[in-house]
Amino acid sequence: MNRSKAKVVRVDKYEPDNGIIKEAGDLIKAGGLVAFPTETVYGLGANALDSTAAEKIYAAKGRPSDNPLIIHIAAIEALKKIAAYVPESALLLAEKYWPGPLTMIFYKSDIVPEEVTGGLNTVAVRFPRHEVARRLIAAAGGYVAAPSANLSGKPSPTKAAHVIEDLLWRVDMIIDAGYTDIGLESTIVDLTEDTPVILRPGYITKEQIKTAVGAIEESSNVIDENSTMLPKAPGMKYRHYAPEGELIIVEGKTKEVAAFINRAISEKTKNNEKAAVLCSEENRELYEKAYVLSLGSLKKTEDIAFNLFGALRFMDEKGVRFIYSEAFDTEHLGAAIMNRLLKASGNNVIKV
Ligand code: TXA
Ligand code: MG
Repeated sequence: MNRSKAKVVRVDKYEPDNGIIKEAGDLIKAGGLVAFPTETVYGLGANALDSTAAEKIYAAKGRPSDNPLIIHIAAIEALKKIAAYVPESALLLAEKYWPGPLTMIFYKSDIVPEEVTGGLNTVAVRFPRHEVARRLIAAAGGYVAAPSANLSGKPSPTKAAHVIEDLLWRVDMIIDAGYTDIGLESTIVDLTEDTPVILRPGYITKEQIKTAVGAIEESSNVIDENSTMLPKAPGMKYRHYAPEGELIIVEGKTKEVAAFINRAISEKTKNNEKAAVLCSEENRELYEKAYVLSLGSLKKTEDIAFNLFGALRFMDEKGVRFIYSEAFDTEHLGAAIMNRLLKASGNNVIKV
């Protein structure tokens, strides 16, 4: 593993410096690791066609090697090189949502190393929209394997400071272009079955995917961590996005939820244990100022999605041991928000 400090460079989000992009692209071509912004979260990039480089990603993140990586491309032509077969439904989705926060899974071609796909015969592909990501991928040769740029298990990074916190001594370069746009990882759709299956909800909603391709299936996203079965999205069997403190989701009628959380927090506080609540802007007034953090308005679920991972990291910074969160509606983007909250809590839900 890399043991020297990463070079951290700041670039413009829309017009990154060509010299920096070339330097970063060359680093990836030479087998190095570069963290870079995408419109969803920051990614940790390596040459996807070089198995040794891809293995470095697992070491840097402390990620289990059976959890496959997404290959990022910057031109649709690249898809045909790494996918053995591209079904019509994929072309429909690509037409509508690429470049963008959508990952599609195909049978892989021979040039994709098994180290990248965690031994699977399928490959996850994403064509991001972020200008810095696109230019970097092109400069790096067109195929960049990139998981989220966090230590395995931690919340995904929505700004460079999060990447620096986790990976400063573990990668070669970190490209800082400020905040990402969306703040939650891409929607993942498996196109290797007759009917497309959503493996991970994201900014592109199931309604949007249905409209583009007709029928879809949703995989049940609650997979037992200790199960020995091979889940379709292998990452789903690991604990994810987790803060250091215990995260507890409280579900029920607004007033009853608030009453329960206020009572729980005052008890914890009495025992000198730090506790706090994550809630909607609309409900902020129901809690004591001292321990409330609003994620955003229920009328702007994009804000709640964007703020979630940062809020979990903030709780860690403050040493909060018990984090209570309101539950959110699972309509549209709410599905992705609740999916991440549930994973972060290890499905720790109290119904009141
Ligand atoms: O928005 C995103 O997708 C970000 C940015 C950096 O592009 N990337 C990201 O990567 O979230 P990562 O590695 O944190 O999550 C990828 C997920 C994992 O749960 C993994 O198991 C799943 O995709 N995956 C990758 N290849 C797969 C495959 N061939 N079959 C099923 N699941 C796959
Ligand atoms: Mg991740």
